[in-house]
Amino acid sequence: MTIPRLRGAALATVTLVAVGSMVAPGSADAAPGDPAAPRYSAGAASVGDPYFPDEGNGGYDVQHYDLNFSYDPATRLMAATATITATAMHDLDQFNLDFRGPEISSLTVDGHAHDFTRDGQELVVTPRPKLKTGQAFTVVVRYAGVPGLITDPDGSIEGWVPTDDGAFVVGEPQGTPAWLPANDHPTDKATFRFTAKVPEGLTAVGNGQLLSQQTRDGWTTFIWDSTEPMASYLATITIGKFEVTESTTPSGIPVYVAVDPRQVAGSAAAVAQIPRMIDFFSSTFGPYPFASTGAIIDRAPDVGYALETQTKPVFSGSASVGTMAHELAHQWYGDSVSPERWSDIWLNEGFATYAQWMYTEYNGGASVSQTFNSSSNYGRAPSSSFWQIVLADPGPEDMFSNIPYNRGAMTLHALRGKVGDDTFFRILREWASSHRHSHAATADFIALSERASGQDLKAFFDVWLFQKGKPTTW
Ligand code: TRP
Ligand code: ZN
Repeated sequence: MTIPRLRGAALATVTLVAVGSMVAPGSADAAPGDPAAPRYSAGAASVGDPYFPDEGNGGYDVQHYDLNFSYDPATRLMAATATITATAMHDLDQFNLDFRGPEISSLTVDGHAHDFTRDGQELVVTPRPKLKTGQAFTVVVRYAGVPGLITDPDGSIEGWVPTDDGAFVVGEPQGTPAWLPANDHPTDKATFRFTAKVPEGLTAVGNGQLLSQQTRDGWTTFIWDSTEPMASYLATITIGKFEVTESTTPSGIPVYVAVDPRQVAGSAAAVAQIPRMIDFFSSTFGPYPFASTGAIIDRAPDVGYALETQTKPVFSGSASVGTMAHELAHQWYGDSVSPERWSDIWLNEGFATYAQWMYTEYNGGASVSQTFNSSSNYGRAPSSSFWQIVLADPGPEDMFSNIPYNRGAMTLHALRGKVGDDTFFRILREWASSHRHSHAATADFIALSERASGQDLKAFFDVWLFQKGKPTTW
C-alpha cells in the first residue's frame, strides 16, 4: 500500500484519523475491550513541519544508523548497506523512511525480506510480522547508483555534491536522504557509524572519531563513529584529497582537520584558531558537547556555504576566522541543541552569529555593540526590506537569508541589555545544558529567559521575534 503524500495543513487531520481508526483490516488482534491487544496503524509519513512537509516520519524512534559503502568519484557510483536500529512508538503495520537516493536492491526488517514502495522522498515499508509498541527493530537497506543532489527553496544545493576529487556531503535542511534512508528531522536524533571505502589516495572524513583506516587492493576504508546523538541534517562523509592534521585542544579535546591542499593557505589563520575558539566558547557557553572537534575544508564552488556538520564543520571554500567561529559555535547551538521546527532556525543562526560577534571582540576586533550598531545590523534604515521578515517564521526561502543570522544576533544582544550580563550568560549556558543533545523551540527560549530574569518579556520578544519592522523600543 502506498500512502498518499501528505502536505501542509491536511497533514495533522489525516494523521489523527490514521492513528485513531486505522486498525489493520480484518485483524483479529484488536479485540474490542481488551486494552492490551495491539492496535496496528501506519506511522505518519511526516512529522508535520510546515517548511518541509515530507520531512521526518512518525511511529518510531531511530537509535542508530550504520552506513557501510563504497564510492568511486570516477563513476560517481555508490554501493551501500544502511542498517537502521529503531524502536516502535506504537503498534505499527507500516512506517516510512525519507530516501532520495539510488535504486534499492533489497530491504529487510529483522531479517525478513520486504516489499516496499517509493513515492517522492517517502520509502514505505510494511513490516511482517508487524511491530508492537516499544519493540526494537532493525531495517537493512541495500542500494547502489548515483546519490542524489537536492535543490533547496532558496535555490542552493545540498545532498551528495560531486567535486573534482570526491564529494562534498551536506544535509541542511533536507539533503541527507539523498544518500542515507533516514527519519530526516532534527527531533529524532541517533548515533551514527560510517564505514566508507574510497580509492587509495582519497580520504573520507565523517562526523565523530576515526576508529580505523586500512588500505587494501587500491582502496582505503575509513570507519567514523559518532558517539553522541546527532540530527540527520548534521551528518557528513565528505570525500577528497585532503591534508590531515591531528592535535588536541589545551583542554584535551581531539582535533581532526582535513584541508584540500588548494585551500591550505587561505584557511591557515582559521585552522590555527580552532583550539582557542573551542576553549573560549566552552568558558562562555559551558562544556563542549562532543568527544572531538575539527573541520573539513574542501573545494565545492557550486555550494558556496559552510555547514556546522557535527564535530567537524565543512567548508565549500577556504575558511575565514569569522566563519570558523560561527560553525564551531553551532556545535553548542544547532548541533547539541537543535531546532524543534525549521521555523526556529534563528535559534541556530542568531546564536552562532552572536558567538561570532563575541569572538571578534575577544580577538581584539570590533566590540559586540559596535557590530550590533553597524550598517549591516541595527544601523539599517527603517525602510530597508531587511526589517520586513518575521524572525520567528522567516519561511523556507529566507531561512538562510541574513534575517535569522543578523536579526537573530541583534535579538540576543538586545536581550543582554534587557536582563544584564550575568542573567544573559546564565540563560545561554542553561539553554545549552538543559537541551543538550536534544531539541528545543522558540517558546522554550522565551520561557527560560523569563524564568532566569524574573521579568515579563512578552513585549520584548513580541517586538524582536514576532513583529515585522525595525524595533525601536523594547
Ligand atoms: N547553516 C549554515 C551556516 O550557517 C548555512 C546553510 C546551511 C545554508 N544550509 C544552507 C546556507 C543552504 C544557504 C543555503 O553555517
Ligand atoms: Zn550558521
